[in-house]
Amino acid sequence: MEIIVAGFLVAIIFITVLLYRQHSRGAAPADDSLSEYPVPKKPARAALLLSKKGPYTLVHDWPRPQISSKEVLIRNRAIGLNPIDWKCVTYGFGVYSIPWISGREAAGVIEEIGAEVRNFRKGDRVWVTSTNYRDNRTSTFQEFIAASPFNVGHLPDFISFDEGATLGVGIVAAAGALFDSLHIPWPQQFEASPPIGTLSPTSPQPSISDQDGKPHGNPDSRPWILIWGASCVTGMMATQLAHQSNLRVLGVASLHNTSQLLGLGAEKVLDRHRPEEVIAEAQELRISLAIDCVGQETATYAARALLTGGKLAYLVKKPKVEVIEKKGLSVTDILIKRFHEDERYGSALVAFVERALVKRTLRPVKYEIIEGGLEAVEEGLRKLSEGGVSGEKLVVKVV
Ligand SMILES: NC(=O)c1ccc[n+]([C@@H]2O[C@H](COP(=O)([O-])OP(=O)(O)OC[C@H]3O[C@@H](n4cnc5c(N)ncnc54)[C@H](OP(=O)(O)O)[C@@H]3O)[C@@H](O)[C@H]2O)c1
Repeated sequence: MEIIVAGFLVAIIFITVLLYRQHSRGAAPADDSLSEYPVPKKPARAALLLSKKGPYTLVHDWPRPQISSKEVLIRNRAIGLNPIDWKCVTYGFGVYSIPWISGREAAGVIEEIGAEVRNFRKGDRVWVTSTNYRDNRTSTFQEFIAASPFNVGHLPDFISFDEGATLGVGIVAAAGALFDSLHIPWPQQFEASPPIGTLSPTSPQPSISDQDGKPHGNPDSRPWILIWGASCVTGMMATQLAHQSNLRVLGVASLHNTSQLLGLGAEKVLDRHRPEEVIAEAQELRISLAIDCVGQETATYAARALLTGGKLAYLVKKPKVEVIEKKGLSVTDILIKRFHEDERYGSALVAFVERALVKRTLRPVKYEIIEGGLEAVEEGLRKLSEGGVSGEKLVVKVV
């Protein structure tokens, strides 16, 4: 009898050890048939999805990405969290294999440079945005990432890595909404040519500033833009860019974010909980440009607020069709992947941001550090998904 019990115990211990080793190697659960876990030459840490349903799990033996001759390798020092990083798990999209890496933005240091790359040196401090969702090497929830140089910008010395990690998706999405979707001319201070194809000669253009950035004539003749969700990270970036483009910003947010938004260049901030008052004010101001950063309900409010024939760019969902048709609006989403698919566009946007940061006409947004390093990604995303973020970016340090 004792021999049987002892044998039984040994078998249980053996099975437990096997299961533990399989888990600590990061193998995906049996229901994920796409499992693949490469053997690392230079191990690094990463927060991985080991199952499509999450959670993000820290592993210590993930391989450093290999770079091509046209790429750089970045050692991440801080990463920013985005709604897409929890939405892809909750709503089950955009996870193409297991293990999977998410994360779309970071700041860090250049670690390696491909033979054909000219504009970076080892040790340069940089910010990076990864819009290339299908290439796990570029996803930022890991210690090292591969990136195309035209998706990476230099960080001025006076901007910390934590601040640099707030730029990422927000600045690319905001610039896309304004300069690509709404065809607003790039701010005059930006001397390089705007990317080909972004400006439509037939679109109505807002007034242009003169050389010193001041508007021509009466400042009150500048057009207004309505930004619904102005305290979103993207909305705060859009507010700054719109202000630099000589647009007057009417921001819609919770009122406790008013002083922050006025500091970023908004001229008026109205309460997002009183949409009919916002619509009435926008009509009074005769606004014909809008960006919605929130969803279909607010995009529809924004559409109702615009003058007939106005233009609206949306980040999440377009307004209800009947409103679009009734008002004869031009409505566009944003093509964020243009940032990595169109090298000229990506390069121009990065050059613009680098210059604006140096001139301090663009600044990183307020942020909160989620303590605990890469292991804290899951906690940070939970906070983001539960609506626990207002007028700030969540940042995780990679230490
Ligand atoms: N299409 C794309 O390529 C693309 C790119 C970037 C982002 N996005 C999407 O755009 C959305 C915004 O992203 P984000 O990172 O900028 O968001 P975020 O900073 O995480 O958004 C948080 C903010 O949402 C605001 N908010 C929530 N409900 C609102 C409402 N009804 N009206 C006005 N403001 C509201 C809150 O404002 P208060 O605290 O002031 O109330 C809060 O400051 C997300 O859904 C994201 O997935 C899409």
